[in-house]
Amino acid sequence: MPLVAAGGLVAGAAAARTAVAAFNVITLEHVEAVVAGAESAGAPVILQVSENAVRFRCGRLLPLARAASAAAEQASVPVALHLDHVQSDELLRQAPGAGFSSVMYDAAHLPYAENLAATRAAADWAHAQGLWIEAELGEVGGKAGRPPLDAHAAGARTDPGRARAFVADSGVDALAVAVGSSHAMTTRTATLDHDLLKRLAAAVDVPLVLHGSSGVPDAGLRSAVAGGITKVNVGTALNIAMTGAIREHLTARPEAVDSRSYLSVGRAAMVETVARLIEVLGTAG
Ligand code: G3H
Ligand code: ZN
Repeated sequence: MPLVAAGGLVAGAAAARTAVAAFNVITLEHVEAVVAGAESAGAPVILQVSENAVRFRCGRLLPLARAASAAAEQASVPVALHLDHVQSDELLRQAPGAGFSSVMYDAAHLPYAENLAATRAAADWAHAQGLWIEAELGEVGGKAGRPPLDAHAAGARTDPGRARAFVADSGVDALAVAVGSSHAMTTRTATLDHDLLKRLAAAVDVPLVLHGSSGVPDAGLRSAVAGGITKVNVGTALNIAMTGAIREHLTARPEAVDSRSYLSVGRAAMVETVARLIEVLGTAG
């Protein structure tokens, strides 16, 4: 089926009071696994490519983006392409030509006024290109290359009043909020501030996005969706599944040399994780 727009998937999820799962992809195996997992769950899905992933792909967006587009077009469920955690204007400007219908512009590390000004400029540009744009206010911790954030620091929580003003003044279509999750957690021990989330959902009239969802247990994810989260970003959970399966495979077969033998078990483990998390979000068809 043809590529769909992430904005449409998020709007559909918001109307149904549910959430669309958005998985970060790094390798072709991630792409195939996310599509296969979504097909097995019978749900739409967003394939996300982050600026960090582009850096890993030798600074080139197109090879992975084209693979993701091709996989999306051959999928039996709706699939959208989203450019994630973009800080570089140069990368931002590649989005439309590389098949992305949406971007997450990340200036959350900047002081409020600078975040707002940079996000406003990015939103104006994105909208002129027909792109849907997500931004972040209140920094979700655990980003690569950023100093660790104290979970109780002011910046580690999004203030509802500021969020309302930020959305109105920046013109963004969705807002990533800091409500207790953190990126790259390898244990599912994050405790979300559900009361804050409720206040944010009441204050802001665009969809809310949860980042760092790998660290949130199933019950927390379900409550977050019930509390107004409509896009759930997952990355690390795929890497945990892939690397764990490959480690186990190679430990049992130290003589293995064919990369297909371990990449296939890594991919299969990610398929299971994708399908299971979509079930948890309640969007499985
Ligand atoms: O934007 C991507 C996500 O926030 C992924 O976070 O790797 O902790 O699941 P995670
Ligand atoms: Zn994120």
